[in-house]
Amino acid sequence: MSFYVTTPIYYVNAEPHLGHAYTTIAADVLARHMRQRGEDVFFLTGTDEHGEPVADAARAQGLEPKELADRNAERFKALMPRLGVSNDFFIRTSDEGHELRVQEVLQRVHDNGYTHKGLYEGWYCPRCADFKVENEILEGCLCPIHEIPLERHQEENWFFRLSAFQEALERLYAERPDFVMPPRHFNEARAFIAQGLQDVSLSRERLKWGVTVPWDAGHVFYVWFDALLNYYTALGYARPGEDLTGRFWPATYHIIGKDILKFHTVFWPALLMAAELALPHHVFVHGFLLGADGRKMSKSLGNVLDPFQVMEELGDDALRFYLMRDVAFGADGTVGMDAVRMRYDAELANEYGNLASRTIAMVQRYRDGIVPGVATDPELDVELEGLPQDVAALMDRAQPTQALELIWQRVRRLNRYVEERAPWQLARDPADTAKLDQALASLVEGLRTVNTLLHPFMPATTDKLRAGLGAPGAEVTSLEPLFPKRG
Ligand code: MSP
Repeated sequence: MSFYVTTPIYYVNAEPHLGHAYTTIAADVLARHMRQRGEDVFFLTGTDEHGEPVADAARAQGLEPKELADRNAERFKALMPRLGVSNDFFIRTSDEGHELRVQEVLQRVHDNGYTHKGLYEGWYCPRCADFKVENEILEGCLCPIHEIPLERHQEENWFFRLSAFQEALERLYAERPDFVMPPRHFNEARAFIAQGLQDVSLSRERLKWGVTVPWDAGHVFYVWFDALLNYYTALGYARPGEDLTGRFWPATYHIIGKDILKFHTVFWPALLMAAELALPHHVFVHGFLLGADGRKMSKSLGNVLDPFQVMEELGDDALRFYLMRDVAFGADGTVGMDAVRMRYDAELANEYGNLASRTIAMVQRYRDGIVPGVATDPELDVELEGLPQDVAALMDRAQPTQALELIWQRVRRLNRYVEERAPWQLARDPADTAKLDQALASLVEGLRTVNTLLHPFMPATTDKLRAGLGAPGAEVTSLEPLFPKRG
């Protein structure tokens, strides 16, 4: 089976921050998990480079938009391996392959009669690159997301006939209750559609930094249409000489933050219908990471948790683990450096790291490093039984936090098992040899199981431990502490 997962493509007018890392890590966890299950996986991330915000930011720095985009796209690209992210391709919307395919798809939308020319006037947020409708605008005429003043804009545009898809979208939501997940965001999207859809502007005339409208060369496409199409265009040119579209389209999961829900759950399916393309299976909408003050993290509010600080102090896998563990994926949650350190000490160092090091140490001390080739303890087997299937079922529904919790319960169970069996006591009495063999074999086997399931969350650490545990029958080897105690 094919599994195609995407992240939003990130604006290059800002530096990479924790929010970007969060979505990308979550998508990576799903991609790695599916690869472990032997699925045919394609995982896409990248940068959104056109539009007014980038053109404005470039101008402010005395650069051409492409220069700014090149510089900042590089930062996002470099961030991926740093986070342990295993994307199969990194798309940039300034790629020629992308631009050509955007033109091809939108020309089809035009030919199918879903565009018209018209005058647009409304309240516009330059940071969102989006017009706001009356009921979303905050008091004082502020953007509901950025809380900055909106601007009155009027222009002659090409429009996309979103209104033509009112019924088709209502039917989609009636027929596919898991098109948008979790349910709270499904309901939000459905309610937005139920209000009645208006046509949306598809092009910009004043702007040059974008993909040229093929039937009206004085216009470029509105950045959101160009951006959304990345999910489709990438498959056409990610592998030179090979078109992956048939293999991976439609996407299994688009993972997004709730700030861009409307574009992905209303505009995007309508656009795909207009272009006669298949719709994605699911759009999964996650919540916001909030600063200690309970507000969405943003540089201007100064409440940001710095991912680089976390990685430098505690390691990349600690960051991945923390983000998937501390905030239930799909809900909002507060994050902060103190909480990261607490999870690191209590769970990574004391529970998981400790379980690994004492298991290996006991096999070395009592059995010269060779894992006893005996059957595992049925009492423990029962408690680990079905775990991989349960984890897989949760991951199928994009619930990494719940999956991680199930795995962690077993990490704790294994630590308790060490206390219950007390191998150091069994080792004193030769009559307990069989019991000791069984306890050690069970611990190693249990650790192998949880370690495999934890791999998508903490790829580097679990690889180390897997090497230390050796193949069944082979010798275990001591490791440096997986998560060293902090001074
Ligand atoms: N370029 C558009 C997306 C186009 S997709 C076709 C965009 N870019 S963005 O750089 O602003 O990234 C927004 C995304 O970053 C959010 O949807 C979310 O995935 C992530 N996050 C940014 N800040 C975040 C938090 N504070 N919390 C959680 N996720 C956050 O929008």
